[in-house]
Amino acid sequence: MAPAEPANGTTDGTTDGAADVELVGVGVRYGSAKAPVTAVEDVTLSVAPGEFVVLVGPSGCGKTTLLRLVAGFERPAAGTVRVRRRVGVVFQQPRLFPWRTVAGNLVFALARHGVPRAARAARVEELLGLVGLSGMGRRRTWELSGGQRQRVAIARALAAGPPVLLMDEPFAALDAFTRERLQEEVRTLADGTGTTVVFVTHSAEEAVLLGSRVLVMAAGPGRIAGEVAVPLPRGPGTDVAALRGAAPFAALRAEVAGAIREAAALS
Ligand SMILES: Nc1ncnc2c1ncn2[C@@H]1O[C@H](COP(=O)(O)OP(=O)(O)OP(=O)(O)O)[C@@H](O)[C@H]1O
Ligand SMILES: [Mg+2]
Repeated sequence: MAPAEPANGTTDGTTDGAADVELVGVGVRYGSAKAPVTAVEDVTLSVAPGEFVVLVGPSGCGKTTLLRLVAGFERPAAGTVRVRRRVGVVFQQPRLFPWRTVAGNLVFALARHGVPRAARAARVEELLGLVGLSGMGRRRTWELSGGQRQRVAIARALAAGPPVLLMDEPFAALDAFTRERLQEEVRTLADGTGTTVVFVTHSAEEAVLLGSRVLVMAAGPGRIAGEVAVPLPRGPGTDVAALRGAAPFAALRAEVAGAIREAAALS
């Protein structure tokens, strides 16, 4: 996506030429020149192909800002951002085409990414099944609940099959049952396809279930305050639902929850 350009001379050894996403010393400022707001400062972060990185932290610490940077919607005021492969995004608020049906939104994404016309209808049904909306393809998006709309947005992001998927609290508006099912689907799907994911959540449980690595951010200014590695099993044959009850799960969840509390106190 971004043109290949050399990282600036201040790399600290954490950078990796093969990374899908690489941020070095990144700062983002909003507001006017007279009243600038430093949203994030000096963020260095590298995400390897196939990694599932979760960002957690208190409201306002810059999680969405970092995703917007990686997606190319924001330019850094300092540092460098490199993204090596095509990115798909699921925002905090679903953004669908209101003049298209549910299926129409998905077909648009499939067509844009070269899925042959004859294969699209079956793929639409498959995607709708994945997000629990089977048979809803003919609905208008404004006839759906907020949670249903968000599920269409998730299906649309998956339709495009992006090698790098950015998800900003995608399950926050969903009921507990649907949320758990989609957590399991997204983890299995990402691991199965080797998709690189950067995922934002407020939930320590969600972070541990999904992530191979959890980055804990603090605010004032937004920065990465700590990291928790999640050495839970991944890949083919993993029973994701069963992980919630596995012994190391509770301890990891408590560790992440504690790190979030500490980061909030730092802010
Ligand atoms: N367009 C904007 N103009 C000015 N300030 C902004 C803008 N967008 C975000 N900010 C500020 O930048 C900081 C980081 O915002 P960001 O949306 O990245 O936080 P967040 O971690 O995603 O929060 P939340 O958990 O509430 O979604 C906040 O202080 C916010 O007020
Ligand atoms: Mg946000």
